[in-house]
Amino acid sequence: MNVADSEIVASILEGSGFVVTEDIDTADLILINTCSIRDNAERRVFARLKELARLKKRNAGLTIGIIGCMAERLKEQLLEAEKLVDIVVGPDAYRELPNLVSEAEGGHKAINVLLSHEETYADIAPVRLDKNGVSSFIAIMRGCNNMCAYCVVPYVRGTERSRNPDTIIKEAEEALKNGYREVTLLGQNVNSYNWNGNLSEINFPKLLERVAAIDHRLRVRFATSHPKDISDELIYTIARNENICKHIHLPAQSGSNRILELMNRRYTREWYMERIKAIKTTIPDCAISTDMIAGFCTETEDDHKESLSLMEWAGYDFAYMFKYSERPDTKAARNYKDDIAEDVKARRLTEMITLQNRLSAASKKHDIGKTFLTLIEGNSKRSKEQFCGRTSQNKVVVFPAAQAKKGDYVSVLVEKSTSATLIGKIVG
Ligand code: 5AD
Ligand code: SF4
Repeated sequence: MNVADSEIVASILEGSGFVVTEDIDTADLILINTCSIRDNAERRVFARLKELARLKKRNAGLTIGIIGCMAERLKEQLLEAEKLVDIVVGPDAYRELPNLVSEAEGGHKAINVLLSHEETYADIAPVRLDKNGVSSFIAIMRGCNNMCAYCVVPYVRGTERSRNPDTIIKEAEEALKNGYREVTLLGQNVNSYNWNGNLSEINFPKLLERVAAIDHRLRVRFATSHPKDISDELIYTIARNENICKHIHLPAQSGSNRILELMNRRYTREWYMERIKAIKTTIPDCAISTDMIAGFCTETEDDHKESLSLMEWAGYDFAYMFKYSERPDTKAARNYKDDIAEDVKARRLTEMITLQNRLSAASKKHDIGKTFLTLIEGNSKRSKEQFCGRTSQNKVVVFPAAQAKKGDYVSVLVEKSTSATLIGKIVG
């Protein structure tokens, strides 16, 4: 989501005559796009600000801004305590940036953190900032209405809004025209995407299928799905469209019903397992990944074991795992004590990571001997003689470069694997 936001910001500023530079030393304006989801994300931003002090000393005309979720959360504090910061702009106020930059250049501190119920930046064609030129992100909605107890997103990104589907299709068509071969549709909970207009209602499966219908050469991915909302209609839609990638990111967060309830996730372990069964029955080759939180308030050793056993049962192909980090003003911060000792959180997280490393390795090993349609993303980081691509299941494959180029699809036979990568050769 942050990349997509930075691309919108770049587009708004380009429209006012700004030019994106790769060279931080020559920049007149530096905007740090921030995330508040965990405490360490915020700490990294403060560290980065300290580094920028050096540049500001050398160039008094340099304007520094904080944009995104931290701007929303820390507002005045950022302007007052961090003398370095000239501009603070929340995620729904990016259109105001050109004016705010002018204000800041005139020597005034500039701030706009108003959240909106409507802003989706639907009409803004993003300036692609990614480097590979093959895959790009399209934000299809903003905000979140879910109120998971641990999560700061609804507070810093506001309520959920869906973006006009016509503008999404247009953006995907544009990406294809510019050489992109993969788009990822992004939202905090894509399954609740909904657009009512022109007598018809478009839900997420319909939107997904419309994007897939643009061109069979354009792969479509999406994230994130909330387990409580993932429907059979979506599962069937993925199954019947070749170019909708066979990968679902379905964050479980915990395997314990007591913790899921405290987290306000609004599903049970049994519901979650049933959804995974439905996915695996209808799309046998579908990869599934998750997010897990270790050490949420009151989590016992038994709760933790239930998380591990769920991970083992699901056999996740990939997982993002985090220690619980209390975020100010969330439901959990207001109502529960952050009572799991840091060393216990750390140990539980390590246990999860160790388990997931084994599951990831097993998932890759399982692919040996199979052939996958692979989209080439470029040369591998290690060697120009190797290509690096991705399977529909979102696994990275490395293979000897041949008569093909970035953005081409090739069939790759997997011969070996590590816990992170498949290794193979082109067979067609
Ligand atoms: N502490 C730890 N992890 C969190 N996440 C969200 N909020 C927190 C928090 N307070 C994780 C969840 C979510 C992912 C994007 O970040 O697992 O799915
Ligand atoms: Fe946060 Fe829950 Fe919304 Fe995801 S669904 S952004 S975890 S509140």
